[in-house]
Amino acid sequence: MKRILITGCHGLLGQKLVEILKPDFYELHGIDVHKDNLFPTRRRYTFHSLDLTNRSETLDLVQKIRPHAIINTAAMTHVDACEIERERCWRINSTAVETLVDAARRIGSHLVQISSDYVFDGEAGPYSELDRPNPISYYGKSKHASENAVIGGGIEGTIIRTVVLYGHGRSLKPSFVAWLVNRLRHRQDVKIVTDQISNTTLVDDLANAIIRSIVKRRTGIYHVAGKEILSRFEFALEVAKAYRLSDIYIQPTLTSLLGQKAPRPLQGGLLVDAAEKDLEMQFKTVEEQLILFREQEAMLN
Ligand SMILES: NC(=O)c1ccc[n+]([C@@H]2O[C@H](COP(=O)([O-])OP(=O)(O)OC[C@H]3O[C@@H](n4cnc5c(N)ncnc54)[C@H](OP(=O)(O)O)[C@@H]3O)[C@@H](O)[C@H]2O)c1
Repeated sequence: MKRILITGCHGLLGQKLVEILKPDFYELHGIDVHKDNLFPTRRRYTFHSLDLTNRSETLDLVQKIRPHAIINTAAMTHVDACEIERERCWRINSTAVETLVDAARRIGSHLVQISSDYVFDGEAGPYSELDRPNPISYYGKSKHASENAVIGGGIEGTIIRTVVLYGHGRSLKPSFVAWLVNRLRHRQDVKIVTDQISNTTLVDDLANAIIRSIVKRRTGIYHVAGKEILSRFEFALEVAKAYRLSDIYIQPTLTSLLGQKAPRPLQGGLLVDAAEKDLEMQFKTVEEQLILFREQEAMLN
């Protein structure tokens, strides 16, 4: 039975991986900085409360578990906070990844590192895996450094870049979709940018792609995201349509008017053809994503 270690197992992606990696086939270990285990009744699952920025404890724990694969979903994901708390951002998003690379090398483990479209500058997206990163935010720089750690680490490594991730989970910060639906249901105005262009990604597609990359032992860089490229404003209109909510409350605005700390890539997005081909998957359209998202929501209630 394969042993898999998921870091950041209480996050959006981490929770989805724990949900879909079946206990009949995998022995799972999860690491998160939180104290309590979110999945106390799950079979063949062990939770480890650990801060990955503690290098010696991380090395010791990975050595003890000896996973066949490590999926690193842990990160400081708040892009504006990364711009302000730079040292913390670097320790989590870059230095901790170097530690995981060292840990993986010592035991010959496959490391899957999750990265972001924010490694690109957003001047000329959508981007393929062959395009050159040029991050414009500190978050983007830290994620790019994590990629370099994996590439230069002498390990079996896979880097999966994704973009605008959403889905359901327990005790999570509300995603863009959840926030928008809540506002529209309460007939509250929202200002949504028309000049940030990218794909959107339902977390189910990403989690399945990660598992396939491990099963198929695919290494190198892959872009995993929904099929369509659209502006955040257009996406908001699609969300309103999917939920049969009025879109009159959705007002267009521009990124430059939001006063955010971190610069955003504008003409972004990821080309996903290579991942679809090599992982033998078809990523969802926006409509398909939102149908599944709604179905999952209905099952939660
Ligand atoms: N969300 C997006 O739109 C998006 C887009 C592109 C790429 N990505 C990448 O996709 C990956 C997964 O994102 P996500 O949305 O699932 O993230 P998330 O929901 O923020 O989950 C990350 C988890 O890691 C935990 N964590 C943070 N620092 C840690 C540390 N030092 N030690 C142990 N655990 C720690 C977090 O705890 P706290 O919540 O308490 O910090 C959280 O439970 C990340 O690498 C992210 O950069 C995300």
